[in-house]
Amino acid sequence: MIAAALDPGRVPSHVACVMDGNGRWAQSRGLPRTAGHRAGEEALFDVVEGALDIGVEWLTVYAFSTENWRRPADEVRFLLEFNEEILLRRRDELHERGVRIRFVGRRDRRVPRRLLNLMDDAIDITQHNRDMTLTIAFNYGGRAEIVDAVRAVVSSGISPDRITERTIARRLYDPEMPEPDLMIRTSGECRTSNFLLWELAYSELYFTDTAWPDFRRGDLFEAIRVFQERERRFGQVSPNGAGAAYNGDR
Ligand code: IPE
Ligand code: IPE
Ligand code: MG
Repeated sequence: MIAAALDPGRVPSHVACVMDGNGRWAQSRGLPRTAGHRAGEEALFDVVEGALDIGVEWLTVYAFSTENWRRPADEVRFLLEFNEEILLRRRDELHERGVRIRFVGRRDRRVPRRLLNLMDDAIDITQHNRDMTLTIAFNYGGRAEIVDAVRAVVSSGISPDRITERTIARRLYDPEMPEPDLMIRTSGECRTSNFLLWELAYSELYFTDTAWPDFRRGDLFEAIRVFQERERRFGQVSPNGAGAAYNGDR
């Protein structure tokens, strides 16, 4: 799939990816699971380039979930160190490409201080970039995000009858982040696994059997092609077949 086949007027402004299937990709090749995580780096940076090329403004990737702490200690340790390594190695390149780096997730004590410092450095260095925002969901859980927002609402002392959806949305990890237009999950699993639960309410979902380490910008363009064929109705009827709005019983 090539970018030229896409409608440039309807490129999703926010694409979110569940980068899944690294472990199985490696195991099917007789390699340790960690080799799959390593191979996923090339996929991520090819997708970043592709997204920049076609003008995607926000790209959000799921790197580590609040549930991933349940994995074997060796794999967790590898993932923590690998994320540090990628931030150090790729930060300047992303900066040169005009990418603003942000993070969503819980900054709890399980996340090593060194990694938190690298995250803060990456945010600082790239904060004025505007070509694209790459948001890395790290120690992220959609339920945890809603719990944290509710805690902030309660401690603000707002009266219950004044709470609206906006009250919650303004207290999510990144209130500036628009809701994803398109969510992609690789490796054949058809679930959210606690990714962006609030924000995905009206996103188009796209699932592919391709494992993340094999995913490239052409696969991103194919997902966007499918997205462009969808009709987003947001609870309304199709504009083609719309009648008069319901005015209640009269
Ligand atoms: C996704 O690949 C990466 C992370 C969750 C960190 P997996 O490690 O989940 O790979 P599979 O799903 O076990 O193949
Ligand atoms: C979701 O994938 C988390 C990330 C990709 C970081 P998982 O592989 O952890 O999800 P489950 O366990 O299959 O639902
Ligand atoms: Mg998985």
